Amino acid sequence: MASVLPSKIAIITGSARGIGKAIASRLARDGFKVVLNDIPANQKLLDDAVKELKLSTKNSNIIGITADVSDRKQVESMVNQAIKDLNAPLGVMVANAGISLIKKIVDSTDEEIDLLFKVNFKGAINCYTAAAKVMIDQGEGGSIIGACSIAGHRGMDSLGVYCATKFALKGLTQSSALEWACHNIRVNTYCPGIVATDMWEKIDNDLNAMNNKPKGSAMESYSNTIPLGRNSRPQDMEGLVSFLASDNSAYITGQAINVDGGMVMN
Ligand SMILES: NC(=O)c1ccc[n+]([C@@H]2O[C@H](COP(=O)([O-])OP(=O)(O)OC[C@H]3O[C@@H](n4cnc5c(N)ncnc54)[C@H](O)[C@@H]3O)[C@@H](O)[C@H]2O)c1
Repeated sequence: MASVLPSKIAIITGSARGIGKAIASRLARDGFKVVLNDIPANQKLLDDAVKELKLSTKNSNIIGITADVSDRKQVESMVNQAIKDLNAPLGVMVANAGISLIKKIVDSTDEEIDLLFKVNFKGAINCYTAAAKVMIDQGEGGSIIGACSIAGHRGMDSLGVYCATKFALKGLTQSSALEWACHNIRVNTYCPGIVATDMWEKIDNDLNAMNNKPKGSAMESYSNTIPLGRNSRPQDMEGLVSFLASDNSAYITGQAINVDGGMVMN
């Protein structure tokens, strides 16, 4: 029941930088036809990433499509454009795009809460459903993968609203896995811990500003709790996502798998 052959398309959202870019690089090396995506404001960063990955992976079937994942129409048109431009079926959707918020829950404004859910939750549901509809029509199964977090397993001080979006994503993932299993569409998430990206740099800055601590302190204190003794690089996520994208994980669905150096053990 091979369903996700590397000659198919893999779309990775929020992939002009950070974890998404590392995943896109790996799936391109695995042989997928790859779509990098980011918000229109990051067009130049996205174009540069496409150029860089074409060279480094020696895969010429890589394109960039801007779309804001929180807009359902933009996500659907990205999927349609990907299939048209790369002339292949959709095999993998990686709903990686996300944003963070460092705020005590009582201090979080309506606007901040709405924005976080719009990007992290609605963005994911838009990507999941746009991909599932196409995969159901194709009739060849597929793999849908979301970016959850250790913050999707346990509450975290000053990251409460962010945690709530990732808990919601885990619920969505389990329910989607149940609904689409009959189409051989598997739905799973990867759950990073502390990954050195622009997102964590902002988290570090905001936490340190809140607690009157010098730059790097928050990152250091979280990193000290990691059993494997270091925080992670974006590349640490790619092995699991490559596995979840492939038929090696053909019997795995509905799971939220930690890639966190042992920070959270379920
Ligand atoms: N960095 C970490 O430690 C960490 C830990 C756990 C989970 N995660 C999750 O991993 C994912 C990637 O995180 P990262 O650290 O690489 O972040 P990042 O901020 O470095 O990169 C995220 C990318 O997503 C893009 N993006 C933001 N909103 C978007 C939208 N509406 N539409 C399309 N693209 C959008 C950004 O422009 C950016 O290029 C996120 O979902 C994040 O919540 C990260």
